[in-house]
Amino acid sequence: MIGRGGVITGYGIGLPDKVVTNDDLSLTLDTNDAWIRERTGIRERRIGGTTSGLAIEAGLAALKKAGRRPDEIDAVILATTTPDQIVPGTSATVQDGIGITGGAFDVNAACSGFVYALTVAHGMIAIGAERLLVIGAETLSKITDWDERSVSILVGDGAGAVVLEAVDGPGQLMSYKLGADGSLRHLLKCDHGGYLYMNGKEIFRKAVAVVVESAQQAIAEAGLTPDQIDLVVPHQANLRIISAACQRLGIPEEKAVVVIDRYGNTSSASIPLALADALDTDRLQAGQHVLLTGFGGGMTWASAVLKWGG
Ligand code: COA
Repeated sequence: MIGRGGVITGYGIGLPDKVVTNDDLSLTLDTNDAWIRERTGIRERRIGGTTSGLAIEAGLAALKKAGRRPDEIDAVILATTTPDQIVPGTSATVQDGIGITGGAFDVNAACSGFVYALTVAHGMIAIGAERLLVIGAETLSKITDWDERSVSILVGDGAGAVVLEAVDGPGQLMSYKLGADGSLRHLLKCDHGGYLYMNGKEIFRKAVAVVVESAQQAIAEAGLTPDQIDLVVPHQANLRIISAACQRLGIPEEKAVVVIDRYGNTSSASIPLALADALDTDRLQAGQHVLLTGFGGGMTWASAVLKWGG
């Protein structure tokens, strides 16, 4: 697709130590483990820390794996919808904390943020960047009303990062599809000083449709058919959404990476957390095709097909 491409050379994660199980939540909320597991696939989530702190942990781990020093990074791109402050961007804290000498900026496309950020990073590489650190990090717990059961059972905190390096030739990114429908922004929102609100049923319906459509477009644009996708790394919002999307795409569910059981919905951190899990468990080999696909507030959605290795 492009003459100068990007290759992921390192990855890392950052997670709070504190594990909150469904049983823990049912101590203070009118809910129970069976309901949460059946409706969402979530068993437990990690809660705590700051967005910058988790991002720094993930970023340092990714740099270590890539064998790169912070001063070799041209820019850190942080996908987050839960910044530590409104101003400055949380990427500034991350840049300083890691010791990166290059640029820093935030991307907010809610839960689609990591795929948006990774796509932007590939664009920067196409016009000359050598090495970028792309991070998805969130502390959704900070904007959650813990006295209300509809949203609090879903969310978790965490971060995932990748180092993207330039290569001559096409690199890993075969295709991408970024989308948004701002007329649906009322379905999932958090006003200044408020709590996260979502219309779960409407989001569910729309999510499956946009994930399937954008994934089909990205797969076709990559010159592939769904049976040639070896691994799906989906946004982790609900196991039933992942299942329904795989079914409609005609991709066996076993090819989807699932970490929602352990981490809940970590918004823009969920795709890099799932990617790291797949790599740690040797589920992704050179030459295989991986589909990243997500959706979130805005509504936004994003799918990308990568050819692993390079
Ligand atoms: N524990 C126990 N019962 C609960 C509950 C909870 N935490 N939350 C809701 N219920 C009850 C409801 O009150 C309702 O009871 P009723 O039938 O007596 O009225 C029943 O369970 C069903 O609720 P409903 O809202 O219809 O459940 P659902 O199957 O739609 O599941 C979500 C709710 C939120 C899990 C689901 O809609 C969802 O995951 N949506 C997508 C959300 C999403 O992706 N958000 C992130 C976007 S990035």
